Amino acid sequence: MENLNQNIENHYLKEELYEDILNRLKEQGIDLNEVKRSDIAGVDEFHVRGAAVSKELADSLNLDGATVLDVGCGLGGPCRMLADEYNCQVTGLDLSKEYIRTAKELSKLVKLDSKTSFIKGDATSLPFEDNTFDVIWTQHVQMNIPNKEKFYSEISRVLKSGGHFLYYEILKKGDGEVNYPMPWASTSEISFLFKEAEMDNFLTKFGLTKEQSNDQTIYGIDFLDALFVKLKEFGPPKIGLNALMGETTKQKLVNVLGHLKSGELELKSGVYKK
Ligand SMILES: C[S@@+](CC[C@H](N)C(=O)[O-])C[C@H]1O[C@@H](n2cnc3c(N)ncnc32)[C@H](O)[C@@H]1O
Repeated sequence: MENLNQNIENHYLKEELYEDILNRLKEQGIDLNEVKRSDIAGVDEFHVRGAAVSKELADSLNLDGATVLDVGCGLGGPCRMLADEYNCQVTGLDLSKEYIRTAKELSKLVKLDSKTSFIKGDATSLPFEDNTFDVIWTQHVQMNIPNKEKFYSEISRVLKSGGHFLYYEILKKGDGEVNYPMPWASTSEISFLFKEAEMDNFLTKFGLTKEQSNDQTIYGIDFLDALFVKLKEFGPPKIGLNALMGETTKQKLVNVLGHLKSGELELKSGVYKK
């Protein structure tokens, strides 16, 4: 497990990531004392459809004032949105030391550090007491986690009774092979895709009840199609996910889009209640 987690951390590693983002902001002529969330939105939400889909997910419930745990928070964009727009007190947890450092710095930069906190940790061993959070939130994380049972049992354990679990996932739909690199894995060695029915079985087993389920696949396809048109016309954005995905960004996105179109993968979001 140590080895696997190290390989996953290495996959996501971008040394000096925060400094790179600062440089990109400066190159855009943005005053570093006046950075807004929208200035960093291109890079701090690492999932298909970025901030737009997070906002939709947040609007599926009344989250006002909730305590939220974002499992696998990445750079913390959704945490800052929940803090800023929904008055939530948010904790982000992620395996990547560099992402956690960057998440903390970005929150300071946009002056949301009093309402967001970030810790390095493993989603399959959450460092929190039982029944701690009103809401658990996770987006595009479980694909890196082989022990799904532990992942969902930990989520259920730290969620309060009556609390909600919100997810946005890339899931397997077909039974064929998947091409790599993918944004979450350069090879199949750190990729553990599974199907929606299997996720539902775990969540039900751990005492959660499905309240909402939305097929996001077509919106993801439309988004990626439009992104490729934009990339062709204008080239890579100054502040975009290419800062995280590096030189193989295009191939990773081509693979995701191809599998969404072929029906091998699907995008799903939804809500469960404990
Ligand atoms: C594709 S990114 C998504 C980040 C964030 N949820 C977002 O949507 O912006 C996947 C994240 O999952 C994290 N991750 C993978 N395995 C993890 C684990 N076992 N525990 C905690 N985080 C993990 C990675 O470090 C990475 O930040």
